[in-house]
Amino acid sequence: TFVVTDNCIKCKYTDCVEVCPVDAFHEGPNFLVIDPDECIDCTLCEPECPANAIYPDGDVPAGQEAFVELNVELAKAWPVITVRKDSLPDAKDWDGKPGKLAMLER
Ligand code: SF4
Ligand code: F3S
Repeated sequence: TFVVTDNCIKCKYTDCVEVCPVDAFHEGPNFLVIDPDECIDCTLCEPECPANAIYPDGDVPAGQEAFVELNVELAKAWPVITVRKDSLPDAKDWDGKPGKLAMLER
């Protein structure tokens, strides 16, 4: 499965949701996750993310392993999103900032 990682937080560009053939993305206040029970590993979303936040679960950046379980957990709690919307207002400022997990809103 593919997973959404740290750099999506406080950016949430949502370009990823438009290309997913199985509607696997779920939306929270400042982050999206992928439901591993839906993802078919088509790879289409990975290059769509302007923040390069999407990775295969076996290849997440070092130190971000917790995001694999976080996608599982939050996909159960958050609603599906299938239509692109505006990014969060300060997305450009937050893009690339490390350690955004501390700012995750649930
Ligand atoms: Fe959807 Fe494909 Fe991305 Fe999985 S890899 S979340 S199926 S677009
Ligand atoms: Fe997040 Fe990238 Fe999608 S920033 S909302 S994973 S396009």
